[in-house]
Amino acid sequence: MAAINSVADLTFVGDVAVLTIGSPPVNALSAAVRDGLRDGVRQAVADPAAKAVVLICAGRTFIAGADIAEFGKPPKGATLPELQGAIEGAVKPVIAAIHGTALGGGFEVALFCHYRVAVPSAKLGLPEIKLGLIPGAGGTQRLPRLIGPEAALEVILSGTPFGAEQAAAWGVVDALVEEGDLRNGALAFARKAIDEDLPLRRVRDLEEKIAPARGKPEIFETIRRANARKFRGFEAWEKAIDAVRDAVEKPFDEGMARERAAFLALLATTQSKAQRYVFFAERQVWKIADVPDDTPTLPIKKVGVIGAGTMGGGISMNFLNAGLPVTIVETQQAALDRGLGVIRKNYENTAKKGRMTAADVGSRMGLLSGTLDLSALADCDLVIEAAFEEMAIKKEIFARLDAIAKPGAILASNTSYLDIDEIASVTKRADHVLGMHFFSPANVMRLLEVVRGEATAKPVLATAMQIARKIGKVAAVVGVCHGFVGNRMLAQRQREAQKLILEGAMPWDVDRVLYDFGMPMGPFAMSDLAGLDIGWSKENTSSSTIREILCEQDRRGQKTGAGFYDYDENRNPRPSPIVEKIILEFAAAKGVNRRTISDDEILERCLYPMINEGAKILEEGKAQRASDIDIVWINGYGWPVYRGGPMFYGDIVGLDKVLAAMRGFQATMGDGFKPAALLERLVAEGKGFKDL
Ligand SMILES: NC(=O)c1ccc[n+]([C@@H]2O[C@H](COP(=O)([O-])OP(=O)(O)OC[C@H]3O[C@@H](n4cnc5c(N)ncnc54)[C@H](O)[C@@H]3O)[C@@H](O)[C@H]2O)c1
Repeated sequence: MAAINSVADLTFVGDVAVLTIGSPPVNALSAAVRDGLRDGVRQAVADPAAKAVVLICAGRTFIAGADIAEFGKPPKGATLPELQGAIEGAVKPVIAAIHGTALGGGFEVALFCHYRVAVPSAKLGLPEIKLGLIPGAGGTQRLPRLIGPEAALEVILSGTPFGAEQAAAWGVVDALVEEGDLRNGALAFARKAIDEDLPLRRVRDLEEKIAPARGKPEIFETIRRANARKFRGFEAWEKAIDAVRDAVEKPFDEGMARERAAFLALLATTQSKAQRYVFFAERQVWKIADVPDDTPTLPIKKVGVIGAGTMGGGISMNFLNAGLPVTIVETQQAALDRGLGVIRKNYENTAKKGRMTAADVGSRMGLLSGTLDLSALADCDLVIEAAFEEMAIKKEIFARLDAIAKPGAILASNTSYLDIDEIASVTKRADHVLGMHFFSPANVMRLLEVVRGEATAKPVLATAMQIARKIGKVAAVVGVCHGFVGNRMLAQRQREAQKLILEGAMPWDVDRVLYDFGMPMGPFAMSDLAGLDIGWSKENTSSSTIREILCEQDRRGQKTGAGFYDYDENRNPRPSPIVEKIILEFAAAKGVNRRTISDDEILERCLYPMINEGAKILEEGKAQRASDIDIVWINGYGWPVYRGGPMFYGDIVGLDKVLAAMRGFQATMGDGFKPAALLERLVAEGKGFKDL
């Protein structure tokens, strides 16, 4: 055995050279790995004793991907073209032996090789699109030559890995070898290559799969149209389509040069920076400063949910999907029946769409029970309360629950705004109480705010995070305050949106600006969807806001066919002349001198106060880090990932600019715009949220 460098070893099994990469944890394509690959293959090829080379990785995976920590840093070590020259240009067959995940740069290295073998559990793919990039080491040029442009674009645009069986069916993998015996399988393939004198199969030279698409731009036009909605606002995807079209239309080397140029251009975009930031932020968010990773957790085997309404039903589905039994408690049989019925219907609809079998529906419903008797929750390990948003009701429930639930059970509230510490104070187990704030629809939205109370014990917090992961959520730890992180910041935007329509904008102006910014919908479309009558009642209305007036006219949102917008039978919104009139009259009655409001002002008025509120949240310690706030907004409110979240966006705009705008607003519109002390400090120090 000869060490090539710190991460690469070359050994011989007869006349087969085996180059092993061992760079824990995932053999990322770092400078050392690139050096080891280049030098190892060169040495093997130069050695007369070797007739073929097997490239294999130690540990749990083949080269899992690029080393994204290297992105944007000065280049070091072997370059990809050097690596490609050494491997693809080798005069002896090089065989990649794949297990675990060969993604991105890792998969591209496998495509440099003349042959590929894999164990059935291996996964391959090109996830660059998820980082706002396209593959940059020939992925867009070689994959189409193996599987055709359409299938290649499916892989590249989805960013989703595919399994080894699919790879074998496509011919991306030349042989599947026995699980757990990759090395011997690869050696056997090498033997065959030597004995049968297999040709050096360079993917770059393959023609068969791309030739039929040549001179057919409509293939790419169709794909472009099919993806336009999904990729609204994103820059990378069209570059990916262009690159694959180049693979079809241009000579290989030219296609490679263009791919590289596009990759480098994307690497420098704010979008890709934002998406790479989010990639790390999503990993960071799980870490709690004073709760180490090895904090013991409590076993959660049975879950109770209180309330079978909108949230209770959705919350229950998360646990049923994860195979955990759930008991729902209601106060009225009718509400219980309705709630259970909605859950069943949701599952049946999923089954109808072919995304679940009838048996799956049965097994999930089999885990679900409903009752009117709170004492049925006595043996639950975790109970989540999702009853009405009223402190008195929550306190009553928690006091009773505390007496019923077994010792050690965790009691959580799904409250959107209320004080978890006050709720916990009615129990004798405040250390086992916390908030688990799901977002609607709770079975779909990825975000979970885990609200840490004053007394919440560390193992309890760790357990909530663990169960969140188990049910596929992204969880952010937040502190107790009105609206926690997400809704507290949302309130800033909503307030400004309401003021803007009084001062001169129309709801559709505000919505258009925020939609164009990349939000899935603007605040008024969102209100119409949620219903304008949340918290409104016929008995207690006094035409004191535009929203109240709309409710009084039975314009309560989409469900009544009208709200801030008029809706047609397919629920398509149209600007409403009636609403326009209501707004103008309301403003006149209030003595407001309406003025023209620019799109820039709309954006700044809606977003900067949110960023300012985020700074207050940070200085109060209600969020651990600015990036957690960004995770909340991306996963809970559809903030466009390519803008990195409100705090990242603040840094991009420049906090000095945000501060100056806030001061201007404060001068003319009052202390609602008072800049956060943290914002002042960061600007004074020439820093951003990223420096905290
Ligand atoms: N709807 C949302 O978008 C949303 C999002 C996040 C959090 N929340 C919070 O979740 C909670 C529930 O909201 P929702 O939208 O599901 O309300 P909902 O009105 O749809 O459902 C509440 C259910 O709780 C039941 N209930 C009331 N008191 C009860 C009791 N003592 N015991 C058992 N069941 C009882 C009611 O019968 C009703 O079916 C609230 O605290 C709300 O603030 C709501």
